[in-house]
Amino acid sequence: MLTIRGLNAGYGKFQVLFDVNAEVKKGKILTIVGPNGSGKSTLIKTVMGMTKVYSGKITFKNDDITGLSTHLVTKRGISYLPQTGNVFSNLTVEENLMLAGYTLSKEDTKKRISETIEEFPIVKKYLRKKCGFLSGGERQMVAMAMAMIRKPEMILFDEPVASLSPKAANEVMKKILELNKRGITVVLIEQAAKKALQIADDALLMTSGKVTYQGSAKNLLAHPELGKVYLGIKSGS
Ligand SMILES: Nc1ncnc2c1ncn2[C@@H]1O[C@H](COP(=O)(O)OP(=O)(O)OP(=O)(O)O)[C@@H](O)[C@H]1O
Ligand SMILES: [Mg+2]
Repeated sequence: MLTIRGLNAGYGKFQVLFDVNAEVKKGKILTIVGPNGSGKSTLIKTVMGMTKVYSGKITFKNDDITGLSTHLVTKRGISYLPQTGNVFSNLTVEENLMLAGYTLSKEDTKKRISETIEEFPIVKKYLRKKCGFLSGGERQMVAMAMAMIRKPEMILFDEPVASLSPKAANEVMKKILELNKRGITVVLIEQAAKKALQIADDALLMTSGKVTYQGSAKNLLAHPELGKVYLGIKSGS
């Protein structure tokens, strides 16, 4: 569904990604793991048209989307939940949801909000509350509802449970699985590698801006060297 070929990209002249090749299959969950600073966020930001592409090609459903601006990528059917600051704290939940519909008409946005909140009880309950007053888990639910407003075919999650309590993290993960079961293709960056790999179909391991493994998540979990190297980095940090 999403194909990345020979991608070299970065920020200005600072290259972060080196000859990255990757494949996201329709209806599946791909987990991206790798140490801090290895380029995981940069990879999905590049898909969203937020970095500088020097060479290579990104295709979504066979259309070339390389270098398209963020709102055009969004319009094609990809939603993105950034690692930080994915809701506006000083706005209400409802106002955040309205903003999420920026590629739709006001009427369509309102219709989509009323449909979407049926699947997110917490979001429905706190519609008039400012996001700044919500817990981290609740805010993440709002961010997910925002991503759903535009009926995406694929959602890119950048460490959605990183700062959450185990209980809130479980609920968010459960919701991600639920969305996937309904046909949404998921790309998930996660630091808690083991857990994220257990729910994934496929995995991508990044090290220093390069892809060092792509294949089934099960095989990466079982891989004697890669697993150890990666978990070694984790336990040392
Ligand atoms: N906006 C930016 N401008 C310049 N350099 C950046 C920018 N964002 C990230 N970088 C650099 O790009 C490299 C990769 O960062 P990136 O955020 O993609 O890593 P990551 O794998 O997501 O790390 P983490 O696990 O800490 O989130 C790092 O060296 C980082 O300092
Ligand atoms: Mg990151």
